[in-house]
Amino acid sequence: MKNVQSEVPAKAVKASSVEMVEVVLPNDANTFGTLFGGKVMQLIDIAGAIAARRHSRHLVVTAAVDSLAFHHPVKVGDLVILKASVNRTFKTSMEVGVKVWSENTISGELKHTASAYLTYVALNKKGKPTPIPSVIPETGEEKRRYDEAAFRRDSRLSSCAPEVNR
Ligand SMILES: CC(C)(COP(=O)(O)OP(=O)(O)OC[C@H]1O[C@@H](n2cnc3c(N)ncnc32)[C@H](O)[C@@H]1OP(=O)(O)O)[C@@H](O)C(=O)NCCC(=O)NCCS
Repeated sequence: MKNVQSEVPAKAVKASSVEMVEVVLPNDANTFGTLFGGKVMQLIDIAGAIAARRHSRHLVVTAAVDSLAFHHPVKVGDLVILKASVNRTFKTSMEVGVKVWSENTISGELKHTASAYLTYVALNKKGKPTPIPSVIPETGEEKRRYDEAAFRRDSRLSSCAPEVNR
């Protein structure tokens, strides 16, 4: 596939996908004995940044995190499972989707806990945004996410730069 963004050949989504598993320890809990929301946000950002670095093969910074909702609490002792993949690439930025589940290791019950979309920008050695390879969506789900990412980018950029739209 021709790559219009950088000299590096385009890559499949699966080439940079991440699955991260952590045990929830008491140190990560809030006063209710469930995983502290800020810790979930940290894990989401780490999983997303790993996917972005693997895809771009550059250091990246988080430019934006879209709204984040927590659907279920995660108890101490449960596993927290994060899956991150590059939904769409632009010139120097990429949208990464991160989905979070909890797993009770005794019952095996899985619960969808949170989802987030993050935008990362690849930086060169001078710390400036640098072109990244295109991503190739292959499965039906990857293609849907790819298409939807364009709309999310439009609304994200219009809401973060209101002066441009006046
Ligand atoms: C993100 C950052 C590198 C953008 O720098 P900049 O000088 O504005 O660069 P540009 O205007 O050339 O934009 C570069 C890319 O970032 C994207 N971008 C910038 N701000 C964005 C935002 N709020 N949301 C989504 N994308 C954004 C641009 O759309 C552009 O993408 P493209 O090349 O794919 O079209 C800069 O704002 C920055 O360093 N921010 C702080 C990042 C940080 O500290 N994060 C937390 C810790 S990692």
